[in-house]
Amino acid sequence: MIIAIDGPAASGKGTLARRVAGHFGLACLDTGLLYRAVARDVLARGGSLEDEAEAAAVARTIDPATLSDPSLRLPGVGEAASVVARISAVRAALLDLQRDFARQEPGAVLDGRDIGTVVCPNADVKIFITAEAPVRARRRYEELRQRGEPVTFEGVLDVILRRDERDSSRADAPMRPADDAILLDTSNLDIEAAFDAAVGLIKRKIGQ
Ligand code: DC
Repeated sequence: MIIAIDGPAASGKGTLARRVAGHFGLACLDTGLLYRAVARDVLARGGSLEDEAEAAAVARTIDPATLSDPSLRLPGVGEAASVVARISAVRAALLDLQRDFARQEPGAVLDGRDIGTVVCPNADVKIFITAEAPVRARRRYEELRQRGEPVTFEGVLDVILRRDERDSSRADAPMRPADDAILLDTSNLDIEAAFDAAVGLIKRKIGQ
């Protein structure tokens, strides 16, 4: 069984994907970490995020076993990932790896931006998580403040809006719900309620 979970930055899709995978006994891949790893490695080599050939060469070296590096989760790396994610050759280099992961038994949950549309168009269940931008910004702001980061709500909202715009307007595999995706708006749901709703949607879809 393959479950695709897509959605914008700070929508909570990563947490939801991990919990859904645990519930159904499936493997889980946060595909954003692949793009984050490309950005991290390009910058570590002193390269430019706009250099298509270099970013693609780096993308071909990404090892999914090395995605636990906590620095990948830093906000600046997410921003840089969104820049390299516009490069088609980078997307192509990461495609087989994601599809191989999806093919494992008994199945997998992948979360990202283009899982339902491009990576796994035949996924058994596709969920597109939405939440209003100010709600996502508020959640991210609280999380960063608790970690002691010097952030303002307006600053976080601005970064989220710019990332949404960049991820949904790129030419190759823009962020959008697949035609057969189920939309789940979590603007008024906490993580428990979002998890219950997602499990309910999945069970209905697979006829359990
Ligand atoms: O989900 P995230 O914030 O970790 O993703 C970081 C960036 O990676 C995101 O802004 C765009 C890119 N990305 C993508 O283009 N396609 C995916 N399937 C996942 C992430």
